[in-house]
Amino acid sequence: MKKTSQFPCVNGKISIAPSILSADLFCLGEEVKRVEHAGADWLHVDVMDGHFVPNLSFGPSIVRSLNGKTNLALDVHLMVERPLLFIEPFAKAGADLLTVHAEAKDVSAALAKIQALGVKTGLSIKPDTPATSILPYLEQLDLVLVMSVQPGFGGQSFLPQAIKQIQTVRQLIDRSGRKIWLEVDGGINATTAPVAVAAGADALVAGNAIFSSADPAEALKQIRQAKPEI
Ligand code: DX5
Ligand code: ZN
Repeated sequence: MKKTSQFPCVNGKISIAPSILSADLFCLGEEVKRVEHAGADWLHVDVMDGHFVPNLSFGPSIVRSLNGKTNLALDVHLMVERPLLFIEPFAKAGADLLTVHAEAKDVSAALAKIQALGVKTGLSIKPDTPATSILPYLEQLDLVLVMSVQPGFGGQSFLPQAIKQIQTVRQLIDRSGRKIWLEVDGGINATTAPVAVAAGADALVAGNAIFSSADPAEALKQIRQAKPEI
């Protein structure tokens, strides 16, 4: 199935990536279709290994189940200590973007492996990691994912310290002259989305705000329409 969403996006609008971590897995297919019809751009899949973060979530099989069933590009966020072990299984399962953490092991080798498999590359930083940690990897990146909560769980509140970090990452990307997408992940809702966008985000992940809503499609639209308060 041809993906309607590409990495990086070419249409200049903010991309929204609902995170299935907060979806009702009993009816995941329906939930994905609802957000797809409501205008989601990517689908965010949070992968946790119980070491890098104190939680477990999805493996490659869920990506395989989604691949070919949705037009949304599959944005896979690897919150794992040893990303090299998991890149090939997720690439083969159909990931369109694989994001590894700057705090994980073998980062440069992991990014090289993702590229070699023809998948877009992402690098994520936790809220307390210096923004400059992305600098050694800029040439290997399609996307930087700034965490605006401590990784591991959905439904947390956006950390105000993330604003400065988004701004700094935006500057570093712009100075590099490279076209690298800046995605923000954690605590995004109709109130915090405009703050993240004003700080420089191109793409937003939203889990709880979309899938814990009685009407995920409407929640997604509200995030897209939210404007900064002046
Ligand atoms: C947190 C995950 C996030 C999370 C976002 O570890 O990386 O993607 O699902 O969920 P909300 O939007 O609920 O903060
Ligand atoms: Zn995530």
